[in-house]
Amino acid sequence: IRSVQDVDAENKRVVLRADLNVPLMDGDVTDATRIERLVPTLELLQEKGAKIVLISHFGRPKGERIAEFSLKPVADALRTILPDAKIEFVQDCIGKVAHDAIAAMQPGDIVLLENLRYHPGEEANDEAFAEELASLGDLYVNDAFSAAHRAHASTDAIAKRLPAYAGLLMLEEIRALEKALEDPQRPVMAIVGGSKVSTKIAVLDNLAQKADVIVVGGGMANTFLFADGIDVGKSLCEEDATGLVQRIEGHANQSDCEIVLPTDAVTAKALESGVDTEKCSISDVPEDSMILDVGPDTVADLKRRMADVKTLLWNGPLGAFEIAPFEEGTFEVAREAARLTKEGKLVSVGGGGDTVAALKSAGVLNDFTYVSTAGGAFLEWLEGKQLPGIAALAAETHDTAETKS
Ligand code: 3PG
Repeated sequence: IRSVQDVDAENKRVVLRADLNVPLMDGDVTDATRIERLVPTLELLQEKGAKIVLISHFGRPKGERIAEFSLKPVADALRTILPDAKIEFVQDCIGKVAHDAIAAMQPGDIVLLENLRYHPGEEANDEAFAEELASLGDLYVNDAFSAAHRAHASTDAIAKRLPAYAGLLMLEEIRALEKALEDPQRPVMAIVGGSKVSTKIAVLDNLAQKADVIVVGGGMANTFLFADGIDVGKSLCEEDATGLVQRIEGHANQSDCEIVLPTDAVTAKALESGVDTEKCSISDVPEDSMILDVGPDTVADLKRRMADVKTLLWNGPLGAFEIAPFEEGTFEVAREAARLTKEGKLVSVGGGGDTVAALKSAGVLNDFTYVSTAGGAFLEWLEGKQLPGIAALAAETHDTAETKS
């Protein structure tokens, strides 16, 4: 994969695929992380004298021009983050308006084009649509790791039409995840939480081959416990997933990967804020209650184990962390990981929407070695899948811009 660092972009139109799919509320960006993490690539391209044509999807308007999915509010957020840049928003990502705006650009200027997914050709990975996007630039840079699991026109087909490069965030994400999963310092602990085993089968299967310990948390731990014959009361549990659990346990066994389940729990009769809670051993979950967090013994055990590992990979909370007091287990373990990381004893990598939200609420987001901007793409990476957006950059066969012009 070629890096944007190595490109001669002087006075060139660079089509920069970013992931500006950020949370919005009442027209305001509520979490600008993805925009902030794009800044190094934007600044590098500005220094290089490029004209930056920024493209992204936003939400899932399914090929229709639906106002609530406009990227316009993101242009305002971008202006706040880069107050000195000239940033223009353009009502469409292809056609005359886009070409006219780009023709008027000076080096260092940025135009943000409207949502790619207003056009059905984007998600269809349509060749003609990709051709239209490619006609907007001389070079293509993909900095959208978090959209790299989509084989869409702006992440896949376009890469065959322009000299293609990876942006700095894309490269950083790939490096950090490779370091944690492909070439880690051992022992490796993976914490996999979340509500359903069935959505994380492939993740667990892959991690069983790569990690030394997998800590199963959240609702999916209940399914593991149930499969092991433990009565989980009214807890969320996939009773029909016993076979899947056994398959994962078998794979883990074969690869000497230990699966760690909670030994105690915080339970309650309802998942409501401030509800009465009870702590109990995992074999004593009351019939009328639900497991909503890991208990103090489990937390202590995880902290002890963490002291012996060198790499931690975290996807999915240990409990119902959005609702107090069920965040405690997740937060305490996250804080321990942050502490060990700060002391230089642990490489900690987290990713996925819930995980990032949990690390943020726990106040440790910046203390982890690396936190991915990706949700679905992070999961597919953990599944061991090749991401089409990265494959397209790797397969890129165009001459470099220098030799081309
Ligand atoms: C994300 O937010 O994970 C990416 O932007 C991908 O969005 P999508 O799931 O709608 O393709």
